[in-house]
Amino acid sequence: MRDIGLSNITAAAAQSFQGLPDARQRDLIQAFVRSLHQCAREMQLTHAEWRAALGFLHKVGDISSERRSEFSLLSDVLGLSSLVDLLASDASATPGSVLGPFHAVGSPWLSNPANLIGANEGQRVLLRASVCDSAGRALPTASIDFWQNAANGLYWQVDPGQPQDNLRCRLKVSDEGRFEIATIRAVPYQIPTDGPVWLDLVQPAGRSAWRPAHFHVIVSAPGYRTLVTELFDAEDPYLDSDAVFGVREALVGRYQDVIDPQACERIGVPGNTVPVMSVQIRLAAA
Ligand code: BEZ
Ligand code: FE
Repeated sequence: MRDIGLSNITAAAAQSFQGLPDARQRDLIQAFVRSLHQCAREMQLTHAEWRAALGFLHKVGDISSERRSEFSLLSDVLGLSSLVDLLASDASATPGSVLGPFHAVGSPWLSNPANLIGANEGQRVLLRASVCDSAGRALPTASIDFWQNAANGLYWQVDPGQPQDNLRCRLKVSDEGRFEIATIRAVPYQIPTDGPVWLDLVQPAGRSAWRPAHFHVIVSAPGYRTLVTELFDAEDPYLDSDAVFGVREALVGRYQDVIDPQACERIGVPGNTVPVMSVQIRLAAA
């Protein structure tokens, strides 16, 4: 008879997954079991605490649906999503940052330069970017997938007041690897505050629900690693307290007033200066 006790329960539980056919999955599960057991041992986890943790996970599952993943949000607020992004980032490239829940496949393709302003309220700005390899050589084959929130803080998917596909597009960079998007300045917004992640975990910790204003971009080019990242506004008050740990210094851009009467006229900015965020995005070779 197998005699399970404190001295061998962890090894037995880890060993029980030895039969998983996929070696990587097996290693991950076994490491996860060891880490969980280590945490329970270190904290001398009680029955009441263990039941509370399972009850919390139950609530996270109950509120999740096809349109909402509270588990992703849990991963975000634990810093796990950002840790995975950082582990996948290449030091020679622009760092990655959270994808978030509002990316939708199939954004409309627009010509470059693009204009997303439409009927949106908000400060009119230009995002100007160049895409290059890690040595700084332009990548004219790159494509961009871009999305952001509207002046009320919401993404079009969760705001019936916005037209479908508002403030999102795909485009190809120019022969010099550049792209320009006329848009409105993104604003800070809060992670969902009606579910157990906020109500039971983040709020009681006295943490902020805010994400600093950002543009989302996915940059891809044949032969290069696809980059999922965000571009933050240097003047945002929440840069130091992003609820999901997405801010990296290299991703913070500052709007500069640029004299460009033609651009002003094109995008309906009175006068002859327009706020421009200029960034360089570097991709690592695949
Ligand atoms: C976002 O960037 O859109 C986002 C990321 C994580 C949680 C909620 C929203
Ligand atoms: Fe976002």
